[in-house]
Amino acid sequence: MTDVTDSPPAFPMTRLTPFDPPPGYAAVRDAGGLARVRLWDGRTAWLVTGYEQVRSLLGDPRISVDRSRAGFPFPTPGREALERSGATTFVGLDPPDHTRLRRVFTKYFAVKRIETLRPVVQRIVDDLVTGILEDGPPADFVTALAGEVPSRTICHVLGMPLADRARFQALDHERNTLTTSPENVIRATNEMLAYADELITRKQREPADDLISRLVADQLGGDTISRDELVAAVRLLITAGHETTTNMIGLGIATLLRHPAQLRELRADPALVPAAVEELLRYISIFHISPTRVVVEPIDIAGQRLEAGDGVIAAVAGANRDDAAFPDAATFDVHREARHHVAFGYGVHQCLGQPLARVELQTVVETLFRRIPSLRFAGDPDALEIKEYAFLSLAALPLTWEVKP
Ligand code: HEM
Repeated sequence: MTDVTDSPPAFPMTRLTPFDPPPGYAAVRDAGGLARVRLWDGRTAWLVTGYEQVRSLLGDPRISVDRSRAGFPFPTPGREALERSGATTFVGLDPPDHTRLRRVFTKYFAVKRIETLRPVVQRIVDDLVTGILEDGPPADFVTALAGEVPSRTICHVLGMPLADRARFQALDHERNTLTTSPENVIRATNEMLAYADELITRKQREPADDLISRLVADQLGGDTISRDELVAAVRLLITAGHETTTNMIGLGIATLLRHPAQLRELRADPALVPAAVEELLRYISIFHISPTRVVVEPIDIAGQRLEAGDGVIAAVAGANRDDAAFPDAATFDVHREARHHVAFGYGVHQCLGQPLARVELQTVVETLFRRIPSLRFAGDPDALEIKEYAFLSLAALPLTWEVKP
């Protein structure tokens, strides 16, 4: 699929607001759930925005995540550099290698195990909110809270010194900014791999009570995972949960502030928080231009034939706004049963860290609005700026609140 003969629309498509997918996603859904789009490099790919079609394709063994296969679609040059950079880890591998490597990590991210971290995350959020209150209004909640909760949490989980977080945050940020040159994406990735390698060496010398020490003790030296594979996987674990959760926290706070009546209900009844977090994940869908795949064997779907070598962009942001799966999908509703959303993907690559993301998001939502009930936008809520980024991402979130005399 390299020749563009009938000029399909360009991808990525423009968003009209930070809170809604591009209108073109709905048009594709109405036309059967998938349609061809034109990428920056002149090739075409299938944009899939129907809920059933996204689930069906992401669950189909006839598509591949292997970025080196001919036809793999990259939505932007920055994303191509990012996805091709660095050692491959299980996010870019198909079964059986994916199965072998992912299995090494599954038990450490099981819901039960992650739930034991709730008090740690609560302390992190409480300390940050205390600091914000001490500094007084206004504050940028992207830097003061949204960026800090995931980075401090992952430092605790993996056993990284808190002082290192500025280093990996800056590198991760550079990698994910779509305008970063391919050379700089590769340099930043290599620096992160070197950091992961140093960390593993340190844990081999001085084991502690953390995930990397456990991985080193349980897994290295066996025949399931090599040292290079572990380095690449640790690099993935440091980054995968960082920008994603940061952006969900920032946009989640902004979404709740834009729906004050529902926010009042949440404050009055914290038991609503877990469902509200699922609805935030569905409604915002920060993975707005992915996941991406390439077809390896022909697939017939929604009256179309996808040929081997065709690129597929399974836009979960479109699927999560499908009225067939979520009645009145454009409406934000904390009372909705939204847990079947695909914000964490679907199929064998479905997000490994989702239990951790849920604990972080639930803790922030419950704690922030309880401790700062008068929180509100410091500027125009319609002027929030979205960054040129791999994930949907807010540049800043200026908020203010009443200070009690
Ligand atoms: C995979 C979303 C947080 C670790 C994924 C995928 C999505 C996603 C959509 C599937 C990618 C694909 O199919 O190509 C999110 C969102 C998050 C979040 C929206 C926050 C709200 C986290 C956290 C961690 C994490 C906290 C771990 C610390 C991973 C890993 C994969 C993954 C390791 C690869 C799984 C595989 O390929 O088998 N995530 N994620 N994520 N996520 Fe997350």
